[in-house]
Parts: sequence; C-alpha cells; structure tokens
Amino acid sequence: MKAHDVNVIREAMEFQLGRSQHPDEFPVLPQVPAARYFDPGFAALEKEHIWLKTWLMVGHESEFPDTGSYRLIDKLDHSVIISRGKDGQLRAFHNSCRHRASALLMEPQGKTQRFTCPYHAWGYGLDGDLIVVPDAHDFPCLNKSEMGLVPVRCEIWRGLVYLNFDNDAESLADFMAPMAAQTTGFPLEKLVVKNRYLIEADCNWKVAFDNFLEIYHVRFCHPQSLAPYLNSQSFVVSLFENGHSRFATRKQQTDTLFAYTGLTVSDQADQTFNEYTIALPTFPNSFYALDSAGFNYLTFWPLAPGKVLMEGTLFGWPDDSEEDKAYWATMRTAVEGILAEDMYLFGGIQKSMQNGVIPKLVMGYQERALYWYQEEIDRRIGAERIPEALRITPVLAGQEQR
Ligand code: FES
Ligand SMILES: [Fe+2]
Repeated sequence: MKAHDVNVIREAMEFQLGRSQHPDEFPVLPQVPAARYFDPGFAALEKEHIWLKTWLMVGHESEFPDTGSYRLIDKLDHSVIISRGKDGQLRAFHNSCRHRASALLMEPQGKTQRFTCPYHAWGYGLDGDLIVVPDAHDFPCLNKSEMGLVPVRCEIWRGLVYLNFDNDAESLADFMAPMAAQTTGFPLEKLVVKNRYLIEADCNWKVAFDNFLEIYHVRFCHPQSLAPYLNSQSFVVSLFENGHSRFATRKQQTDTLFAYTGLTVSDQADQTFNEYTIALPTFPNSFYALDSAGFNYLTFWPLAPGKVLMEGTLFGWPDDSEEDKAYWATMRTAVEGILAEDMYLFGGIQKSMQNGVIPKLVMGYQERALYWYQEEIDRRIGAERIPEALRITPVLAGQEQR
C-alpha cells in the first residue's frame, strides 16, 4: 500500500481509537427490512440483477498451470468450464453440449486437449469450436462454425479469476478499480491455492456475509480464537464505489492472525500487512483479509432464499514442503473453528426474521459496511423494481472514499 494510503489509515485509526461517540457528521442508519433475507421475490431480483450480472470470484490463475487445465464451476444453477487454451488464454464456457444439451465434463477439475461429450461424442476444441460430429452427414443443415460452446465472460484481476454471466457488464478492471490501491504491495498474482472447502448453512446468503462485515461481534463470539489478535477499537471502514469496502484493523501480539497455527510470516508482502489486517469485502459476495502468512478467501452463494453455500479458499505461497502441508492442514482447522463460532448463530437469525418476530434489523455505525452493500444491491436492482416495504433508504452516498 502506498505511504499516503497508510497515513490515511493511521489517521482514521487514531480517530477511531479516541472515539466514544457516534461521529456527528455520519448518517444514522435506517433499519433494514428483514424480508430482504427471505422473500422469494427479492431473491429472484437479486438473481436477475446481481448474481447474473456481476463479476464473481471463482479461483486463481495458478490453478490452470497447463494448456487444457480446466475446472468446473457449479454455482447459481449453472455449470461453467474454465480452461486454458493453446494460446495460454483462460476461457469460460457453459458446460453444455450444443447437440442435446448434455454436460460435457463431469470431473470438477482435470486436463484435456478436447471437450468430448459423453452422450454422442461431439467434440469441441479448447477454444470452444465444434470440431467433431460423428455421422455428420446425418445433420445436413448443421453449420459447425455456429455451434461452438456458449462462452461466459472470464477475466483476471491480480491473478484472481472472475466470471460474469452478463455480456454487457463493465470490464472487471473497471469494477475492481477502487480495490487496486488497497492491494498494492501484496502480490496476489503469486498466490497458490492450498485448500478449498464448502459449507452449507440454513440462512440467507446475506446473513452469512453480514457476519464478516463487522468486528462488533468478535469480542463476544471469538474471545479466544480471534479477539486476542485484533484491536477491535481500531477498526477503520472505508466505503468504495461499486459496493466494495475496506477494513483496516491493528494487529496485536503477532504479525499474523494465524500465529497459533505455527505459520510464519512470509516476506512476500509489505510490512503494512503485518501491522494491519487489511480486509477487502468485495461486492457482491467476497470477503478476505490479507495476511502475510496467507489467508482464507470466502465467497457466499445463494442456494435458496434461506440457504447459503460458503466456499473457503485458502491461499498461500508456493512451497511443497511437508511443513507447509502441515501448516495448511492446521490453518484449515483453525479457520473452520472460527467459522463454527459464527455459524451456530445463523439458523436462529434466519428463523427470527422469517417467522416475523423481528421485521427490521438494527444496524449501528460499526455496521456501516453491511448497509453499504445493501444500498448497492438496490442500486443495481433498481429501487423502482423493489416493493416499497423491502427497499432500504440510501443514506451513505457521499461517504465513499477514493
Ligand atoms: S448431447 Fe452432446 S453429443 Fe449428444
Ligand atoms: Fe465472526
């Protein structure tokens, strides 16, 4: 991070540490309709205007080391192949045969020179072109050049791979522009995936996402695991365009949040990242906190209005040693342990909203990042499409920083 940005954080942190009142100039957040967390109509609006139109982080370049390396991404009722072409480019296609719609690939990852449909063996090149049709003479009107795999937009930001189902969406670089300065000095491109895990929970995706967007609960929910390493009072929130935000928190005791796993700090990242935890909630569904030892990148996916799939990707530095493997096994246990401390509350939250007992959620100043992404949801859906009882009142415009 640039010296100027670090100074801005320091100054904001001094203000937070010395604060015992709600900042005068900051808007008081209106209450949030609980129905946003369970109404099927609202979930459908989110699907149409958020999930199928926004850049979504699904992996890292390093997971596609060779020509023909591929991964399947099964999310949001879609199955998408991401693979590396002969020209070195990553491309994404719907995992759907143009003949009679069979899935082409079944294995979640692998390597291939051609995508061959298991049903009638139509074959597609790594660039998506249809190249083989058995008994082609029985399809006299078929124009192969028009029958390539259906592409999905796939772009890379700092080594992270994103998909977007909307052909008209802005570029990933534009979408992520506010986050570029926040990661300067942290070589995300050099990361590798150490581990990946999936967890389902009985709550709306926003209940789970909300949990990561404030530090208010850390003292109470994670008194042993997380609280001793973070100075909660130093919590600085910056709101950015496109619904993104950044948190900076002062570390205490050690340079890495994962000291208790035995992980040592790498010198790959700037010293700033040892002093502060820089967390980057990224619209619509990503949360990660940069840590020099490596970190857990979480994404949250709706399975139903009351069901979420959480995917955790553990990112670290290239190292094939046995020690490194042991570190990451311990890290995964540690991360899942912390997550369990949060997760056992999720079902109760969902129930109290869904049964009507709590029709509105109260959000305080420390919870402003929660409100910020909810405002972005309404901006992207278009307030006029949202029933009035489910809308939130935008109050944070003008509070974002550059
Ligand atoms: S469905 Fe793929 S070849 Fe028939
Ligand atoms: Fe938590």
